[in-house]
Amino acid sequence: YPPERIRNFSIIAHVDHGKSTLADRLLELTGTIQKGHGAQYLDKLQVEKERGITVKAQTATMFYKHTVENPESHGTDTSSYLLNLIDTPGHVDFSYEVSRSLAACQGALLVVDAAQGVQAQTIANFYLAFESNLSIIPVINKIDQPTADPDNVKAQLKRLFDIDPSEALLTSAKTGQGLSQVLPAVIERIPCPPGNCDSPVRMLLLDSYYDEYKGVICHVAIVDGAMRKGDKISSAATGRTYEVFDVGIMHPELTPTGVLYTGQVGYVITGMRSTKEARIGDTLHQAKTIVEPLPGFKPVRHMVFSGVYPADGSDFEALSHAIEKLTCNDASVSVTKETSTALGMGFRCGFLGLLHMDVFHQRLEQEYGAQVISTIPTVPYIFEYGDESKVQIENPAALNFNAGKRITACWEPTVIATIIIPSEYVGPVIMLCSERRGEQQEYTFIDANRALLKYRLPLREIIVDFYNELKSITSGYATFDYEDSEYQKSDLVKMDILLNGQPVDAMATIIHNQKAQKVGRELVDKLKKFIERQMFEITIQAAIGSKVIARETLSAMRKNVLAKCYGGDITRKKKLLEKQKEGKKRMKRVGSVDIPQEAFHELLKVS
Ligand code: GTP
Repeated sequence: YPPERIRNFSIIAHVDHGKSTLADRLLELTGTIQKGHGAQYLDKLQVEKERGITVKAQTATMFYKHTVENPESHGTDTSSYLLNLIDTPGHVDFSYEVSRSLAACQGALLVVDAAQGVQAQTIANFYLAFESNLSIIPVINKIDQPTADPDNVKAQLKRLFDIDPSEALLTSAKTGQGLSQVLPAVIERIPCPPGNCDSPVRMLLLDSYYDEYKGVICHVAIVDGAMRKGDKISSAATGRTYEVFDVGIMHPELTPTGVLYTGQVGYVITGMRSTKEARIGDTLHQAKTIVEPLPGFKPVRHMVFSGVYPADGSDFEALSHAIEKLTCNDASVSVTKETSTALGMGFRCGFLGLLHMDVFHQRLEQEYGAQVISTIPTVPYIFEYGDESKVQIENPAALNFNAGKRITACWEPTVIATIIIPSEYVGPVIMLCSERRGEQQEYTFIDANRALLKYRLPLREIIVDFYNELKSITSGYATFDYEDSEYQKSDLVKMDILLNGQPVDAMATIIHNQKAQKVGRELVDKLKKFIERQMFEITIQAAIGSKVIARETLSAMRKNVLAKCYGGDITRKKKLLEKQKEGKKRMKRVGSVDIPQEAFHELLKVS
């Protein structure tokens, strides 16, 4: 296929507007997959199937015969096209994956739900595509719904993005209505990939993952030239050279073709030993040639950090192994070893957002059977000392206000949040944003009854429970998206939690001074609820420096499970003892106090 017969496109949309379903229909339409395979084909990970969200972008190649009228012969001409469809995740945490997928495309289908209209991520995704100079085809989907109002959506697209209403395709990925227009529009409206077929091969590394049998598999977009099996290619980032063992397309499974030409998207397997060698955004090129590296991607910015510890101390090796394997397939997580006095050896992990963190924990449990305790999530703060040196703090326990160095200033990361809501909810949302220390940037209407609010908010204020609260005060109608913005000066303090006078390093947090009292109270109350009474009295305190700001006491109790079973039924006794032992397993002993795993989980939710 010459570049003129290739189209690389992506589907972008707000969560749940139907892009995975539409992708499935297009794959069926082109015979790439069988009809009625059940779940969404491109969502391969178990978490994706369970949560119905797309986490990792997937690519599939389709072949399509396009027929056009030929005015000269008064007949029709049919040509075969190679179409690469790159599915992208919709959730805000994964917008990094979206911008990566767009780098390999010349166009995008912008899917909008006909009933819900433009939502926060529609706006974010539109601008990602627009800034990458992609041709955008608006697709108004779910027109089968009784509340569908495609004309209103067309008006929104015109007002917000200046999209001509006549460009919109109307579809239902559910009933199949309108789907036949989609691929012809892709061919007619999206340009073919640029590139020079005669130059030495040059390609962009889009993604990589590790396969137990095949080794490192790289997804690549060929920008110039062709790559054949047996070729030698080099990495512009590391200078290392590799032999091409296998090359092919995703159709939708790996399908060897022996060669990839200019404009194609496909996979390559070389002798790379780990995904660390396959740097996403790197340029791979013909060995022994000097090429201009392609513009790569913005480095990943980790927004949320949390400690990950084995639930049972002896499992450290197993956890370490599981994390290593998982990060092979999710290079967007950063991992460093750390030790906590309370929890022993573990890891400090950096994530793109809270959902990303949740998904990581869930994958650790589901795919690798690892039971973990994670610590209160924190954002990367910057502290400046009297000598003007600055440090980024990703673990509150590492911050020592009394270490001889005086802290002279603190900064916290902020985001610009876009919120779209029916106008009757504007009041409560403004209140929520100001409670969360937000600063209003914009307040407009996108149609007769929907408002758009823009706020600058400290990242710390939105990572915990902001989205849930926003959803609950707007009866689920609000949509929300954010992009990272600059750091702002802030009045931050470190809050310690003390059990029987001993600070628990894994429970320390950094927090805005104004919020300390409220959060301290909540943390102490939560802990009191979750720590069971033990054989001695336990005091639970929240403190800033030496000042205690909240305190609770759990009175002592003599716990004897066997006292409940009268009579000497030995099996019952055994069962109870077993149960107690099991209960123990899920405890962490901190100093002399046993803390159940759930207490750590609950602490994550305090905002
Ligand atoms: P993420 O992958 O999580 O970003 O979501 P998505 O945009 O891929 O949405 P998905 O395809 O998972 O669709 C969301 C829901 O809408 C599913 O329950 C689909 O069955 C449903 N859906 C998709 N297209 C249509 C449609 O045309 N009409 C109707 N009525 N429902 C649809």
